[in-house]
This record gives sequence, C-alpha cells and structure tokens, in this order.
Amino acid sequence: MNSSKKFLIAGLFLLVAGLLFGITGTLQYCIPGFLKASLSFEKIRPLHVSSVLFWIILSAVGSVINYLQEHSGREIRFPVLVKIQFWIFVLTIPVILCSYLFGYFGGREYWEFHPVLAIPIVTGWLLFLIHFFSTLKSLKQQPVYVWMWCTGIVFFLFTFLESYLWLIPYFRNNIITDMTLQWKSYGSMVGSWNMLIYGCSIYLMDKISGHQQYSFSKTAFLLYFLGLFNLMFNWGHHIYSLPTHSYIKYISYAVSMTELLILGRIIYNWKATLSTAKKHIHYLSYRFLLAADVWVFLMLVQAILISIPAINLYTHGTHITVAHTMGATIGINTMLLFSFVYDIFGTKKGTIRSKKMFDYGYMMANISLFIFCLSLIIAGILRSKWQMNPDQPAFSTMMQQLSPFYILFCVSGITLAAGFFLILYHLIRNTGNNAKNRLF
Ligand code: HEM
Repeated sequence: MNSSKKFLIAGLFLLVAGLLFGITGTLQYCIPGFLKASLSFEKIRPLHVSSVLFWIILSAVGSVINYLQEHSGREIRFPVLVKIQFWIFVLTIPVILCSYLFGYFGGREYWEFHPVLAIPIVTGWLLFLIHFFSTLKSLKQQPVYVWMWCTGIVFFLFTFLESYLWLIPYFRNNIITDMTLQWKSYGSMVGSWNMLIYGCSIYLMDKISGHQQYSFSKTAFLLYFLGLFNLMFNWGHHIYSLPTHSYIKYISYAVSMTELLILGRIIYNWKATLSTAKKHIHYLSYRFLLAADVWVFLMLVQAILISIPAINLYTHGTHITVAHTMGATIGINTMLLFSFVYDIFGTKKGTIRSKKMFDYGYMMANISLFIFCLSLIIAGILRSKWQMNPDQPAFSTMMQQLSPFYILFCVSGITLAAGFFLILYHLIRNTGNNAKNRLF
C-alpha cells in the first residue's frame, strides 16, 4: 500500500478515537461527575481535541502526497523520508494521547502536551517539506492548488514554531504580546491546514470535471491570495478582546469573510457546470463536496455575526466559539477530507443496502451537526447573558436553564458520531477488494 493511504488510515483511526472521546465529553456535560476519577473533562477535552486535529492534519498530509503524485505523474522523490515522517507521527501521537491519560500536560490550549513532544512533530514536518519540494521540482506554470500546498506546508511549520514562542521569557513575560502571539499563531495555523485542504478540493474538482478550468482561474488565485493574506494578518476575531491596533482587526475580519465566500462560490459554480455523468462517477466524493459547500455558507453567517466587535465581546471563549470551531472543523474540513478519502481509495457505492447505509450516515451526520452547533450557540447566549447581568441570578439557576440544551448537545453529538460511524462502515465495506485499494 502506498504511503499516502497509510496517512489516511492513521487519520481515520484518530477520527474514531476523537469521536469516542467527544461522546464521553458530552456525557460529562450532562451527567455531573461521570468518569471524573479516571477520565475527568480536563483530560477528555485535550484527548478529543488532539485526536481530531491530528485526524485533520494526517489526512491532509496523505491527500497532498497522493494528489501531488497524480498531478506530477511522478512517484515521491524520497519515499524513505515519507516512511520516516509517517512513523514519527504514528509513534508520537499515541505518546501524546497517553501523556494526557496519565495527566502529564505542560502545553497550551489545543496543544496541551509537553513542549518536548513538539520536537518530533516539527522533525516530521521538515521531512514532509523536503520530500514535497523535491518531488515538485519547479513552481513554474503550476496550478493554484500547488501554490496552496506549498504555502500551507511552509506556513504550518512557521506558525507551529511561532505558537511555542511562549517558551522564551521575553514573549511570555508580556501578557498582551503573549496572548496576541498565541491567538495569531493558532489562527494562522488553521489557515495553513486550510490551504492544504482547499488546495486538494480544487484539485479534486478539476479531476471530477476532467479539465483544469478552476485551478488556473482568476477566482481560484484570488482565493489563494486572500488565504495568504489571512494567514499573515491572522483571524481578527481571535484578538478582538486584546488592546492591539484596530486596523489589524478590521482588515483581517474583512479578509477572512471574503475567503470563505470565495471558496463557497467556487464549489457552487463548479457544481452548476458538472454533467450528470461526471457527478455519477464520483458520486460519493461529490456528496461530501456539496455538504462542505453548505457548511461554508452556514459558518460564514456565524462568522460574520461573531466578528462584529460588540457581539464578539460577549461570545469570545464561550460555547458560541466552540460551536464555530466544531462547525468549521467538522462541516468544512472533515467533509472535504472524506471526499478525498473516498476518491483516493476509489470507494464504490456498493449494494442498494450499502448505499442506503451511506445515505443514512450522511444525513444523520449533517442534520445532527446542525442541531449540535445550534444547542451550543443557545447555551452560549444564555450563559453570556447571565455573565453580563448586573443582578446575576445564582449559578445553579443558570445551569438549570442550560441543562435542556446540554442534553440536546449530548444527544445530537452521539447521533453525529453515529452518522460518521455508518459512513466509516460503508467506506470499509466498499473499498476495493484488490490489494491496491484495500482499506484494511
Ligand atoms: C470530526 C469530528 C469532530 C471534530 C473535528 C471536532 C473538533 C473539536 C474542536 C476543534 C474542539 C475545540 C473547540 C474549541 O475549543 O473552540 C472540540 C471540542 C469539543 N468537542 Fe468536538 N469535534 C468533533 C466531533 C465531536 C463529537 C461527535 C462530539 C460529541 C459527541 C464532540 C464533543 C466535543 C466536546 C464536548 C468538546 C469540548 C467543548 C468544551 O470545551 O466545552 N466533538 N471539538
């Protein structure tokens, strides 16, 4: 089996782990004290977040490696480096997860593992950078997705290192610099993996339509430059609450909205030009691209609202932000990644029963995600209203008010995970019988 598929399979394992940790986390929202002694929320949250973030990163890496080879018509230049990179990630990630289980932390939000464990991640990424650029050879006359991959790879390394500047006392000792850098680097890191994923989605759209209309189009290059600008000037809404220059906040706000709008427009226009036959051949990948398109627009609406400074003041750091992060990482990133996984493994629709299972899983995941995010948003609004209320009622009264929404969050989270499990089951059952495409 080629290395890109190994990255995708490792990513899928992490997705399963992430979903199980997510379910445990939502149960802890509703059942106070659930598994508190052995797996408290302080452990479950990083276990869940790191698993799903590594699902996104590993499968983005696998997709880029696969599509780079398809695009260039060449094998990876240094396959041994890909192997080493794979084993570094596959050995380090379980160590990270085990360190959480045993209560060893030391990092910061989202990357809560001990900073020493960042060293293998950086080393693995450096190898990725070397074998990617050696295989690519030249940047001349390249389509937009190649530029996106190059930018994503270089900037991920840069922003990942930047997110560890807090280890140096000069940055750590000034709280404003420290927080600005932390949020800026996280925002840019998300922008970097989005470059890898959006690049793959433009490649896949070209592949499905059978021509390179999109990857050389002005709109796609506009998306690229906006994404790049966004990467450099960060996501405005991350730092609204900090006293930095206001022009940074407003420019980055406008750019981040435009970026999403253009991605949505590209998928929307592409969909309209596709013949029924082409939709049919790549039906399952196509369905995930459609889902991502809907989520781009839903997230855009939410992002516009929470980026209004007066609203952001109340929403930053609440459940509303969590709803936005999960809406984007599940609705956009995960849906796009599934479209690559289905394409790369050449998964077929299968029998009528099997196809039905896919449809149930797909509908369940999308509808549940909508309810899941909505329940978090409502809980967030009620909580921030309570926080800002000068005659604040008792905490227990507020929690009682929130409890139906926590239950909804938990139930829809479980059905969301169930939807993904059905999709995964369909994927395993219908991925080629020949050794080349076999999933397990
Ligand atoms: C592909 C699937 C998923 C992805 C990519 C994902 C992603 C994330 C991310 C990035 C966060 C951190 C949010 C933030 O701090 O702003 C998060 C938090 C969380 N997620 Fe997920 N998630 C997924 C599925 C699920 C599922 C199915 C459940 C529940 C059944 C779940 C439950 C949670 C919980 C409880 C938190 C912690 C919320 C808090 O801190 O209060 N997630 N998730």
